[in-house]
Amino acid sequence: MITGLPDIVRDLPGLRARVAAWRRAGESVAVVPTMGALHEGHLSLVRRAAADADRVIVTIFVNPRQFNSQADLDAYPRTEEADRLKLAGQGADIVYVPDGATVYPPGFATTVEVAGLSEGLCGAYRPGHFAGMATVVTKLFTQTTADLAYFGQKDFQQLCIVTRLAADLDLQIKVIGCPTLRETDGLAMSSRNTRLSAEARAVASSLYAELQRVAGRLAGGAAMSACLEDAKAAIVAGGYQAVEYLELRAEADLAVLDRPDVPARLLVAAWLDGVRLIDNIAIAAAA
Ligand code: PAJ
Repeated sequence: MITGLPDIVRDLPGLRARVAAWRRAGESVAVVPTMGALHEGHLSLVRRAAADADRVIVTIFVNPRQFNSQADLDAYPRTEEADRLKLAGQGADIVYVPDGATVYPPGFATTVEVAGLSEGLCGAYRPGHFAGMATVVTKLFTQTTADLAYFGQKDFQQLCIVTRLAADLDLQIKVIGCPTLRETDGLAMSSRNTRLSAEARAVASSLYAELQRVAGRLAGGAAMSACLEDAKAAIVAGGYQAVEYLELRAEADLAVLDRPDVPARLLVAAWLDGVRLIDNIAIAAAA
């Protein structure tokens, strides 16, 4: 018998009934949206949510609207039963696993688009991805009516977009960003890492190592464009097929920077073994 297993709820009336009972008891509610294939990074969000709120809903929905190709959607791992077991003892009360029609009922015609923030970085390479993400996150916020929502800094642009949409739409939810969890060699944990071959996995951590090397060089006063070009070449030399982008952006609003004179993020997307990986680190403002 496994203790602390969350209940699975698949329908909206069932979810609303559970949340209403919590509300009657005066309890606060947190949500941790995911697409499943849970790893320690996801679980760290759940533990943080459970520390802050009385009740925690983890959502699992592989959102077709945020995938750029049918092949990527089909290849996305679906491991619901294993996910539920991983959540045992982590503080989740409910795993909400809606089907497609519960999120997008027939005739669904609304899209949430966050201008500006969605346009560069991943937005430039994944058309429609952020509109699909913002739309589903808005639905999950309104379906759960949570007070608090937890997102990883691993997907930093996503975190910025979600924070913006919650403010713009007057949603009564506080969006909280949490640190990126990494494997022991530094590779950011991701559901996509399981798709890497053993050979690719062995060289994957060079992405994070290069981010750190750029951070060190920038702190030492090196010129930004040279640092970024050297790092892109080093990422490819390290076994990655291609770097989509490596950019320094302002942490507050993702503004393009030509020097790190405000708190910033160094963000990267690169392809390894046919898998697209992203990562980012904080860069302190230079003195
Ligand atoms: P998914 O990739 O499953 O990620 C769910 C949450 O876990 C996101 O907030 C993500 O930033 C966080 N996360 C992923 N890897 C992490 C890591 N290594 N450390 C800390 N947090 C990590 O992001 C999505 O799903 C979807 O876009 C979603 C928001 C659920 C909307 O469909």
